Amino acid sequence: MPAHIGVTGLAVMGANLARNLARNGFTVALHNRSVEKTDALLAAHGDEGDFIRTESLQELVDSLEKPRRVLIMVKAGAPVDAVVDQLVPLLDEGDIVIDAGNSHYSDTRRREAALAGKGLHFVGVGVSGGEEGALNGPSIMPGGSKESYDALGPLLEKISAHVDGQPCCAWIGTDGAGHFVKMVHNGIEYADMQVIGEAYDLLRSGAGIEPAEQAEIFQEWNKGELSSFLIEISAEVLGHVDAKTGKPFVDVVVDSAGQKGTGRWTVQSALDLGSPVSGIAESVFARGISSQRAQRAIAQETLAGHEAGVALPENFVEDVRQALYASKLVSYAQGLDMLTSAAKEYGWDLKLDEIASLWRAGCIIRAELLKDIMAAYKGDAKPENLLFAPAFVQSVGAAVPAWRRVVATAVQLGIPVPVFSSSLAYYDGLRRKRLPAALIQGQRDLFGAHTYGRVDEEGTFHTQWSGDRSEVNAVDTH
Ligand code: 6PG
Repeated sequence: MPAHIGVTGLAVMGANLARNLARNGFTVALHNRSVEKTDALLAAHGDEGDFIRTESLQELVDSLEKPRRVLIMVKAGAPVDAVVDQLVPLLDEGDIVIDAGNSHYSDTRRREAALAGKGLHFVGVGVSGGEEGALNGPSIMPGGSKESYDALGPLLEKISAHVDGQPCCAWIGTDGAGHFVKMVHNGIEYADMQVIGEAYDLLRSGAGIEPAEQAEIFQEWNKGELSSFLIEISAEVLGHVDAKTGKPFVDVVVDSAGQKGTGRWTVQSALDLGSPVSGIAESVFARGISSQRAQRAIAQETLAGHEAGVALPENFVEDVRQALYASKLVSYAQGLDMLTSAAKEYGWDLKLDEIASLWRAGCIIRAELLKDIMAAYKGDAKPENLLFAPAFVQSVGAAVPAWRRVVATAVQLGIPVPVFSSSLAYYDGLRRKRLPAALIQGQRDLFGAHTYGRVDEEGTFHTQWSGDRSEVNAVDTH
């Protein structure tokens, strides 16, 4: 019997997706550059379903039913191009090449266009949930043509996570839309992880609460509006004791955060789109500062702190919880707003309710509040910004006093809270009746004749600053 799908690239993620497909009743043809990995997978898990062992891409292709579905799970970048280049001559019109790695959406757009020119479908698929998710049900964000989804969607929906019988997988949009949405998911993931880190630091350095006790606090928080995978695993990490030293695990880990690049990509793309994802950006920069170990060592010896002796607000732990909630929500709001901008730029019909829906389970940012986010975008009256949805106007509004107290206290204590504070600045930036951007427009007009608009008149204006300072109508160079 021909295989339903082929998987090439059998490192952990590829192997787990292949096993997930087989466990769900699909016949999976396996291929890896070195056949040892294929054999190791078959030896350990060959009894989980129907697998076909192949030793070459030609053999893999020959073992598939038509239209062929070939899923590539190799490192993003040049390795994907290398496999695609080898595959293309072996395929027939209508076949589908699936890239399930964390590829940059612009690469996906390029590959999709190139393969479409050859009558092939190229589908960039965002897969979230780590190794565990890949095996037991990830959140899946496929792009590519609608036609390719008709042939591929049923398989992906079957192996995805489910909520109330609904798959956490839906067609996102054409060409690179799936990888774009996955990238923004990761940007939100970075911000979410950073705000949790900031809460931990405030409770530890500000309130002197040890990791073991914090683990209990986080477990408690996980029962309420903060309930999410990342809060849950943070409690687990904080409660873990290092076997070698008996110290809290978090105290023996080097405090430099790594990054593979998707958070950075989110910010780079946001800059191109003019989308203000300040919290996400700060979370990427915070990882950057943490990695500057040499500079940090010098700064610890040389830079003054002048931390004020501050009395902590009375209900500091609860204040931190509320600040965490509000900042987390801003991260989602910024990420979703970026999706709205991208949809316009790239002509994607991104459905934010559907995207929120498929982030509800399987993925790293799965959280209770995604139910409310999904509800906020259902129906016709979609908010311009997530923060304007009535449920969040209310819940974030209620957190604002605590949020301000926490940021003010952190500043006085010298504890950096870049995402707590930038999220609050975003919130205030949106609400301010007048922003100092008016002064910036004046500065730009003075030194570069960049022109400005007036609040009381339509048109574009320039003041002749070096002349008699009279105002003239001008061509718009805002
Ligand atoms: C997921 C994750 C995953 C990501 C890792 C590592 O959704 O399963 O986002 O795709 O690659 O979390 O990311 P960093 O190394 O950049 O932290």
